Amino acid sequence: MPRSLCQITDLTAAEVAEIFDLCAKMKKKEIAPRPLEGKSVACIFTKASLRTRVSFEVGISELGGKPIYITDNEIKLGQRESIADAARVLSRYLGMIMIRTFKHSDVEGLAKWASVPIVNGLTDLVHPCQILGDYFTATEHLPKKDRYKVAYLGDGNNITNSWLNLASLIPIEFRIGTAEDCRPDPDIVEKAKANSESKILITDDPKEAVAGADVLYTDVWASMGQKHLYEEKEQKLKKFQINSSLLEMASPDAIVMHCLPAERGREITDEVMDGPQSVVFDEAENRLHIQKAIMVFLSMH
Ligand code: CP
Ligand code: NVA
Repeated sequence: MPRSLCQITDLTAAEVAEIFDLCAKMKKKEIAPRPLEGKSVACIFTKASLRTRVSFEVGISELGGKPIYITDNEIKLGQRESIADAARVLSRYLGMIMIRTFKHSDVEGLAKWASVPIVNGLTDLVHPCQILGDYFTATEHLPKKDRYKVAYLGDGNNITNSWLNLASLIPIEFRIGTAEDCRPDPDIVEKAKANSESKILITDDPKEAVAGADVLYTDVWASMGQKHLYEEKEQKLKKFQINSSLLEMASPDAIVMHCLPAERGREITDEVMDGPQSVVFDEAENRLHIQKAIMVFLSMH
């Protein structure tokens, strides 16, 4: 079975380091591998996307491949035919498959049955490419620190779960400021806590989460597929907004991150998002570099 990236814990810590090394070298244009030369790569989207779609299509082209954009209107994954059959058919045409969809089990099903690598471009459970890129971005901005204190404020969602997955592999202090019933996946929390080198805190006090933090991170309060819950979530999460007064409680050289798209004025203020500590557009750029590194890594293993 080929290697796939369904979630960060599909990798070892050494493999994450290898991907970061490839990413840094490709970003600096020290290397320009073309492992997808002569191959087509499906980019399947059953949810909206700006960054993931464009960065994957550009990245696939830069690695020599041809991206094929597919929406669920055409393939109706798991409805017209089983995931297993779709995986086996697609494998006969393609060199790799990237997919963004709702159910994480659909991505795992593709990875089980496909004979080409699968890359998860976001599910309801996790968004591995985002957090690998974000950690890489943090290392660029805070090169002298290690075991970052990362404060995530807001909804316990696919982004939070992916930070927890990273904490299973890489030592970080990950503090989650959220409401009682917006907490991340309990199994993923337990797995992260099993890494004794990381420290996990879940609190309903935003100040406790942020005190002395190196990284302040937030995401929309209602994710794709949950927008109908927005008002309910907003009531519970509004005290976790990243604004200037909260930022003052972080480390003086703290960076502010957001995976984007942002709902400005809700989970983050304009002042912070456009302020000097914000690295949100570096994160967006690094999606391209990290995904290229992931695709090179999967092509080699
Ligand atoms: N951050 C991110 O994945 O953005 P898109 O939803 O626009 O792809
Ligand atoms: N949690 C958000 C992330 C978007 C990149 C969502 O799933 O909609």
